[in-house]
This record gives sequence, structure tokens and C-alpha cells, in this order.
Amino acid sequence: MSDQEFDVVFIGGGPGGYTGAIRAGQLGLKTACVEMRGALGGTCLNVGCIPSKALLQSSEKYAEAEHALAEHGVAVSGLKLDLKTMLARKDKVVDGLTQGIEFLFKKNKVSYIKGRGTLLGGGRIKIEGPDAGTLKAKHIVLSTGSEVMPLPGVEIDEKKIVSSTGGLALPKVPKELVVIGAGYIGLELGTVWRRLGAKVTVVEFLDRILPGMDAEIAKTMQRILKKQGIEFRLGKKVTAAKSARAGVTLTLEPAKGGEAETLKADVVLVSIGRRPYVEGLGLETAGIALTDRGRVKVDDHYRTSAEGVYAIGDVIDGPMLAHKAEEEGVVLAEMLSGQKPHMNYDVIPGVVYTWPECATVGKTEEQLKEAGTDYKVGKFPFSANSRARANGDTEGMVKVLADARTDRVLGVHIIGPEAGNMIHEAVLAMEFGASAEDIARTCHAHPTLNEAVREAALNVDKLSRQM
Ligand code: FAD
Ligand code: NAI
Repeated sequence: MSDQEFDVVFIGGGPGGYTGAIRAGQLGLKTACVEMRGALGGTCLNVGCIPSKALLQSSEKYAEAEHALAEHGVAVSGLKLDLKTMLARKDKVVDGLTQGIEFLFKKNKVSYIKGRGTLLGGGRIKIEGPDAGTLKAKHIVLSTGSEVMPLPGVEIDEKKIVSSTGGLALPKVPKELVVIGAGYIGLELGTVWRRLGAKVTVVEFLDRILPGMDAEIAKTMQRILKKQGIEFRLGKKVTAAKSARAGVTLTLEPAKGGEAETLKADVVLVSIGRRPYVEGLGLETAGIALTDRGRVKVDDHYRTSAEGVYAIGDVIDGPMLAHKAEEEGVVLAEMLSGQKPHMNYDVIPGVVYTWPECATVGKTEEQLKEAGTDYKVGKFPFSANSRARANGDTEGMVKVLADARTDRVLGVHIIGPEAGNMIHEAVLAMEFGASAEDIARTCHAHPTLNEAVREAALNVDKLSRQM
């Protein structure tokens, strides 16, 4: 059988691959997307962003009915958790969205090739699976994403010792859940199962949670989550896990060395980060170099070390976030069709969808200190925001960091209700190079949570009218 020929083939149908393929199709390139998992959408839609947000939302509704509605004068009796329905709803949300991408592929003339793609060199790809055969393309894009980082001594069986994939589908609420790693996944899924009734202990190697987030925001988050019943064991590493019928026994040691102790759990969630997924991709055959951290090495046009092969998303450097992968997919498709697009890596937001959420864009206070930048800080607590008080969600704050000399906004960090939506005001402001005064002088509707962003911007020069 002869090769099917394309202008561009994306290997991997996650946010990077499917968004890039749709854009390439829109721009008139003959495009294919190869996906081996049996559904489009990648980690994000199938076992990541979307199912986790569905469970976060459902568990928040349960917790609201359990604890928060009474003060609003809404009395609930006979409250009961129906986990089966909750999980089925999550699966339905996922199915609907993955099918939506198939529709978009058809609409934009993208060929969906089902199977595992392996580079053969010379612009050729072997496909194994339902659409077995070979493809030839002028441009090949590696968008194969990432997989869970394994932890030596703690073998994942997706039943008692789970990755996020198993953690999104536990058939019953564990009595005791131990989460290893206080990052995005550990805190999001830890809070889901805590709200549904599990006793949750989070073990973290560092002496803080959420590395990468502004330290003050992370500290506030830890205090709030502690109040919600989550226990933290910071500065500890797990060195072994023994699984038995009754549960799992973990061995913990101080990160800096010292005496070991044990910790028991029904279920253990391993969430210590993710690593690029390049298994069976044929990188050596194609002559593709990796960085020393194991990601596919690319230049600023996403070109790998092999002619005609590019890479985007989790498999290359940068934050492992769906929107970053999507942007890269679009930018690359536009470059391949002769346009000159640009992606601003300085203003990629990050959001942890716990309750309250925390959201970040730009530099943290620690990064500014380390760089020796002279900066000003403006903060505003949600306890002084009228909408937050009316809603009954007053925990958290907004923090704006601006250049001391020029007033240009360098970073914004929010912990509080709807932080993930609110951060986009700051993202947009930073994209346009705004000063704190620009935000402070922008008329904000009253009463809204976003007024707290404005007040924090005013407070960069100690001008808040609410405090
Ligand atoms: P992926 O989404 O990983 O897609 C890669 C695809 O390539 C996969 O479907 C895989 O099957 C396929 N593939 C791999 N190799 C081959 C091959 N050889 N042939 C054919 N197909 C292949 N990010 C956010 O921004 N917001 C969130 O809320 C969020 N929540 C998350 C929650 C969890 C539990 C997890 C695990 C991740 C979450 N992320 C979130 C991260 C997000 O999922 C990733 O950053 C994003 O999916 C990366 O997109 P990608 O296209 O690079 O790769
Ligand atoms: P993470 O990098 O966010 O957090 C991992 C945590 O584990 C860190 O705090 C790290 O210090 C700790 N750690 C590392 N080794 C350890 C060890 N041996 N013992 C104890 N702790 C250890 O990684 P996570 O949570 O696994 O998520 C992976 C990635 O997926 C995230 O970095 C993020 O890019 C993406 N994601 C994004 C989400 C979002 O945007 N809301 C949600 C979920 C995941």
C-alpha cells in the first residue's frame, strides 16, 4: 500500500495536536492527526482537565449542600452521596467533548488517523492500530504529551496506588487517602475526595505547597485547606509502599534525611509531576535530540533537530498546561502556512481549581527578589469586597506586583472565589503592558469580585478607597 500524503501530520490528538490540526485545516493545509487512545482530546479531555473539573464541581455542590447552604436559609435534609451518578456524569461530559472534536475535524477537513504513530525518518510515519499503514508529510508535529512521573518504590496499580487517572475513577470514597505531592493534581484531587468524606493527608517533599506559585498565596492556600480538614506532612519523602489487602503502608523519611516512619492509607495518589511521553515514537530513528530534562528539544519555531519535524505542548519545555499546548499548536500551524504569529510566554496564566481557587500570572514576589527587580506590592482581601461578603466566600486576596519605577504590572496572584476567571483581567492587562494605575483607573462594575483586583492595583500606591 502506498503512503497517504499530507502537508502536516500531528502525532497526538491532545489540546496541542487537535487545536493545531484544526487551525492547519482552516488555513488550507492538508492535515491529519494521529491518535492512539481511541478518543481525541488527549490527557486534558479524557483523564485530565475536564474530568477533574467535573468532579471538583460535583464535590463542591455536595460540600455546599452539606455545610454552606444552611447560612443562606436553605435547609437540606436527607443528603446522600451518589458517587456512581457523579462519576457517570463526569464520563458523559468527557464523551460529549471528545465527540465534539471529531465533529470539528470533519468540519475543518482534518483526517483523524486512529493508531500509534512511529517516525520512520524521511518524513514518513508508520501507523499501527485501526488505521494501520504509512503516512508521508512535509511537516510532522510531535504532540504526544506527558505521562505520570513514577516514584521509585511506589508501584502504581491504579486501584490502591493510583495516578490521577485512577484517582478520577475511585469506585468508593476511601477512608484514608494519602496524596504524594502538593502540586496541582494533589490539591485538586485531594480536595475532591476530602469533600466527599475521605481523611486526606498530603505528603510533600519541599517545605511548602504549590512550588511555582507566589509563596504568600501558597501559604494562605495551605491554611485554608487545613481548615477544610486536609493534613500536610511537608519536608517528607516517601521511600516505599507496601500494598496488602487491608491497604497500603507507606514509609516516610524527612527529605533532608533522618528517621523513617510509616503512614497507612486505603488509597495512595501519586502526583509528583509528569514527564514527556515519547515511548515508541522513533526519536532515535529520526535523529531527534532531547533536553537534559528529557523533553524534546526545539528552537523558537518549534523545530526539532530533525528536518521537517516539530514539537509542541507537554512534550517540550514550559508549563505543562492545556492552554499553553493549544497556543503552541495554533502558532505552529500559522507558521507552517507562512504567517508570522507570536506567542508571549511571559503571560501564561496558571490556575489551581481547588475551592477557593488560586491563580497566577507573571512573576512571583520570590522571582522578583531573586532577579533584583525593584517592585511595589498592592494587596486587597476578599473579606473587604462587598460581592464576596454577599456571596459568603470571603477568604483570600488579590496581590498585584508592579515595577517600582515604571508602575508596569509584573505579576498578579489571586487566591479566592473565582480566581481562575478573575485572573484574565490581569492577563489581558499584562499582554497590553498595562501599569497598575491603568487597572486602577478602569471602571469596574459594582458589586463584583473583580473590584478586588482594582483595589489591589490601587493599593500598589496605597490608594484603596475600600480600606
Ligand atoms: P496530551 O493532552 O497528553 O495529548 C497527547 C496525546 O497523544 C494523547 O492522547 C496520547 O494518547 C497521544 N499519543 C502519544 N503518543 C502517541 C503516538 N505515538 N501515536 C499516537 N498518539 C500518541 N491543564 C490545564 O491547563 N488545566 C487543567 O485544569 C488541567 N488539569 C489537569 C488534570 C489532570 C489530572 C492532568 C493529568 C493534567 C491536567 N492538565 C491541565 C494538564 C493538561 O492535561 C496537559 O497540559 C495537556 O493535556 C497537554 O496537551 P498535549 O496536547 O501536549 O498532550
Ligand atoms: P506538580 O509539579 O504540580 O506538583 C508535584 C508536587 O510533588 C510538587 O509540589 C513537588 O515538590 C512534589 N514532589 C516531587 N517529588 C516528590 C516526592 N518524591 N515526594 C513528595 N513530593 C514530591 O505535579 P502534578 O500535581 O503531578 O501535576 C502535573 C502537572 O499537570 C502540573 O504541573 C500541571 O502542569 C498539570 N496540571 C494542571 C492543572 C491545572 O492547570 N489546574 C491540574 C492538574 C495538573
